Amino acid sequence: MTVLPDLPDLKAKHRAMWALGDYPSVATDVIAELGEALVSATEITARDTVLDIAAGSGNASLPAARTGARVIASDLTPELLEAGRREAAAQQLELTWQVADAEDLPFADGEFDAAISCVGIMFAPFHERAADELVRVVRPRGRIGLIAWTPEGFIGEMFAVMKPFAPPPPAGATPPPRWGDEAHVRELLGDRVHDVRVSRHQLVVDAFATPEGYRDFFKERYGPTIAVYTAIAGDPARVAELDEALAELGRRHHRPDATMQWEYLLVTARRT
Ligand SMILES: C[S@@+](CC[C@H](N)C(=O)[O-])C[C@H]1O[C@@H](n2cnc3c(N)ncnc32)[C@H](O)[C@@H]1O
Repeated sequence: MTVLPDLPDLKAKHRAMWALGDYPSVATDVIAELGEALVSATEITARDTVLDIAAGSGNASLPAARTGARVIASDLTPELLEAGRREAAAQQLELTWQVADAEDLPFADGEFDAAISCVGIMFAPFHERAADELVRVVRPRGRIGLIAWTPEGFIGEMFAVMKPFAPPPPAGATPPPRWGDEAHVRELLGDRVHDVRVSRHQLVVDAFATPEGYRDFFKERYGPTIAVYTAIAGDPARVAELDEALAELGRRHHRPDATMQWEYLLVTARRT
């Protein structure tokens, strides 16, 4: 018999993990370009009502609101929404910030002209549930736009490197980077969508001067990395092993001009 995870407990853990460190600085200092790219690929305009799922501090919600669209930024982690709210006020942008689980969205069927998620929905552990919710809230002929790290790309590899050091995932969970696998996403969305366009891109990251720079930045600011280091904190040999494994990954990807390329999948589709 499969033992199902205690969901409230699991969600509380995930929420606490994403509140660790300083995720908003990861979004603004390293991957800001992705939010803009997603809004542009999904062709968001002032006529749209848009849901950003797992919006974090608004990496995609803010550029979506800048088009004049009516935007709801939703996320599991209130601390990140709060950071987004402050940034929106500083930029004089108006949008709604709402706590919501991607696997149980508190919105009506067909409520949105478009739903987007920038390296966000991929972190909800039960992919089918999240995909069902994503499709449900978009109106017929409405748009879906997704960005996910690919399993073969840099962040996909980083998760694979961290996995042996991390506590086991909950029963029934699928690893986040599978949302960056074209066949998996097509299967998740199924025949409920058409006009599916899929492309791979490289985010050029120039934020780290050395191969280890990304590791030290993520150790300090990125919840999933902090959580793994916390789990092995009592074992200095394991910590040193993970330090070296992440440094080795950095050495393979860091270029002489001090840039890195982080691969992601961009998917757009229309609700049938
Ligand atoms: C890598 S961040 C991406 C945030 C933002 N979209 C961006 O581009 O910066 C992943 C986000 O997923 C959120 N998240 C994780 N699990 C979630 C769930 N089940 N429902 C909603 N949000 C979730 C986290 O709180 C976090 O904000």
